[in-house]
Order: sequence, then C-alpha cells, then structure tokens
Amino acid sequence: MEYHIRQYGLQQGALEIQYIEEFFGEFPRRKTSAEVVARLQNRDHQIVMAEAALPDDPGTVVPVAFKVSHELRESETDPKLADLVQRLAGCVTFNGRRVLYSWIGGTRRDWRGQGFFRALTEQQEAWALDNGFDEVVVKTKNKFYAMRGTLDHLEFDVIQFEPQLDSRPESKVYLSKRLGRAVVEQHGSTREVVNLS
Ligand SMILES: CC(C)(COP(=O)(O)OP(=O)(O)OC[C@H]1O[C@@H](n2cnc3c(N)ncnc32)[C@H](O)[C@@H]1OP(=O)(O)O)[C@@H](O)C(=O)NCCC(=O)NCCS
Repeated sequence: MEYHIRQYGLQQGALEIQYIEEFFGEFPRRKTSAEVVARLQNRDHQIVMAEAALPDDPGTVVPVAFKVSHELRESETDPKLADLVQRLAGCVTFNGRRVLYSWIGGTRRDWRGQGFFRALTEQQEAWALDNGFDEVVVKTKNKFYAMRGTLDHLEFDVIQFEPQLDSRPESKVYLSKRLGRAVVEQHGSTREVVNLS
C-alpha cells in the first residue's frame, strides 16, 4: 500500500488540524487553528496528514491521520513548554542537540490499524533527520492504551514516568526515540509526499 501524505505550511495546516480534530471524540479539548499557529510560529515545525478514500465513496479523498511536531529548546519562554523542558531534565540532553517534540496526532477511527500512523511517523523521522534533529520526544498518559501500544511498536523508549497516585490512568509517560541513519533505513512504508509548506 502506498500512503498519500501532505506536508502543510502553518496557516493552512492549522486549519486542517482544527478540521480533523473534530473527528476525534477522545480528545477532551480540541485545538483551535489559532492555538496551533501560536504554538508553532517562530519555531521549526512539521504538519503532516495522510489522506485516503472514503470506503463507500472511493472517489472522495479525505484526511484520515495527522501528526504535528515542533522544535523544543532548552530555554523556552512559553510556560507550558518551559514546564515540559523542566520535566525532561535529566533524561533528555538539549545542549548542542536538536530535540523535536511530537505534540499531537492520531488516526480517525475508521482508518485505524492500517498503517497510517506508522507512515506519518516514518515521514516525520525522515524529515527530522534531514533537518538536523537528534531525538523525538513524546508525552502520553497511562490511559491512552492504543497510543502507548503504538509507540511501543514504533520503538519509542520510556524515559520518564510521573505517577498520579490518586488516579493511575492520568499518570504521564514520556517517551523518546534517538534518530540516526539506521532508524530511517529501517522504515518500511511506501509514501508519496506532496509538500505544500
Ligand atoms: C494510536 C493511533 C494513533 C494509532 O494509529 P493507527 O493509524 O491505527 O496506527 P498504525 O496502523 O499505523 O499502527 C502502527 C503500529 O502500532 C500498532 N498499533 C496500532 N494500534 C495499536 C493498539 N491499539 N495497541 C497496540 N498496538 C497498536 C500497530 O500494530 C502497528 O505496528 P506495526 O507497524 O509494527 O505492525 C490511533 O489509534 C489513535 O488515533 N488513537 C487515538 C489517539 C489518542 O489516544 N491520543 C491520545 C493522546 S496521546
């Protein structure tokens, strides 16, 4: 199977994210395009989406999976990102290295289990390596079992665990993957990428 991927620029990509997130019932607070722009502007970032045909209308192609990542620096001024950097202290080295934070992403329910998220992850890793990144970091929660299982298959290592003693499912899990030529050489997906950025 060949995966059809679009890599978006900031403004259009932010609108596409706002649109696709409407299909994710499990996201308690969906991102607005304004939030996406505010987070990504002034930092290196990547917005990728996979498209596929509707099962009952093969002539109509829709976005079915997405992944958004951005550079994370040691000296962040945004309070949320500064807090994240602090939580990663001791398990991620920033000094002299480029760290990519895999911020949001998912696959629409009807298209899960068909390799779309792997294809986007492989595209993200190839782009990150080409752009000088050394490591991809991601955060999830105990309760997101599908995401945890997927990150396991994608060979992300757990680097930090923050237990939430009054509610175990809410405990935070931080994972990372170090990038290198060998990682990209292991990729198995066939991708056609249209770059709109
Ligand atoms: C997690 C999610 C992104 C996976 O997307 P997907 O397109 O179905 O994933 P893929 O088909 O590309 O699968 C990638 C790998 O993960 C594995 N995988 C996928 N879903 C899995 C699950 N529920 N449990 C365990 N492994 C899983 C696949 O077997 C595959 O491994 P392989 O390539 O080695 O065979 C999708 O289920 C989703 O969007 N879930 C909701 C998002 C969410 O929970 N977000 C919470 C915030 S972090």
